[in-house]
Amino acid sequence: MVQTMSIEVPQPTPNPEPEKINGKFAGKDILSMDQFDQPSLEQLFEVTDRINNLNRSQRLAVLQRSAVTLYFSEGSWRTYGSFSSGTARLGGIPLDARQASVDIDDIEFVRDVSTFMDQSDLIVIRHPQTESAKKAWEISMSQRNKKVVPIINAGDGGNGEHPTQALLDLYTIIQHKGRLDHLTGAIARDLLFGRTVKSLIRGLALYPGNTLYLLSPEELRLPRKDFEDFSGRGIKLIEISQAEEIPKDADFWYWTRIQRERFRDQDEYERLKGCFIIDQKFLDRFAGKNTVLMHPGPRNEEISTEIDSDARMIMFQQAKNGLYVRMALLGLVLGKI
Ligand code: NCD
Repeated sequence: MVQTMSIEVPQPTPNPEPEKINGKFAGKDILSMDQFDQPSLEQLFEVTDRINNLNRSQRLAVLQRSAVTLYFSEGSWRTYGSFSSGTARLGGIPLDARQASVDIDDIEFVRDVSTFMDQSDLIVIRHPQTESAKKAWEISMSQRNKKVVPIINAGDGGNGEHPTQALLDLYTIIQHKGRLDHLTGAIARDLLFGRTVKSLIRGLALYPGNTLYLLSPEELRLPRKDFEDFSGRGIKLIEISQAEEIPKDADFWYWTRIQRERFRDQDEYERLKGCFIIDQKFLDRFAGKNTVLMHPGPRNEEISTEIDSDARMIMFQQAKNGLYVRMALLGLVLGKI
């Protein structure tokens, strides 16, 4: 007699939040800086230094032909470039999915992510919608009984996050200031739509004694819920409206572009785009001699090119660090390093 057996396929229930890193990166998703703690950051930065010191053939052996999908539905040079080149330099295969532009509420988004899961070992996603990375993560979690394909958030909308940018920003701050605690910084311009600042503040809030001066026009202040959430973590946030209010001995400045594409009213963008422009005079007047000037890029009119040769301007070094920090992250998340 033939026995019928009912086979139960285990269906993992998606967690409401992605797992904390807790010193173990392999197979984890990187959606938010909230997943990090101090030891996990230190581990990542230690691997970053190690990768930086590998020779070419050692580097090429790291990813062992792992394939990384770059699902970028929004423009990008630096982030796309460093993930793509970082994958190739570590001996992985970058798969270019820059044409894929799908509404996350559309069934096609689920199909796209599922297809990329079949084709690759990791998906890096950038998308104009704020819940995009989380949605991709939920899709990947629902299929995790078949294959683990981690999701890395490379920027989700204006209210979301950009954790890998914050990781390279924090690495750059340590490189120049030797620490991530008891720092005074100024973060300026588009704090409403800028996602890099939301991730950076989360990262700096993991360390004690940090004070951030938030300089922006009234219209571009940090959203109230973020201001309250971050302040509740113990980091000191002070909103200011004039450069005169930045302490002269600030350790770093973090300038940002006004996020033109996220404005409904382009006249409003035109009205605000000229705020807090840095030229040599501005820098000499308001920054200290040891203040470093950072910017996530792309830079528009907000920092005059006359500053580029000033030793305090470190945005190019910061961008270069992105390559190594992202290489370290790829190696760790894919469990290869
Ligand atoms: C940032 C982004 O995409 O949020 N760019 C980047 O990744 N370096 C900042 C920006 O676009 O202004």
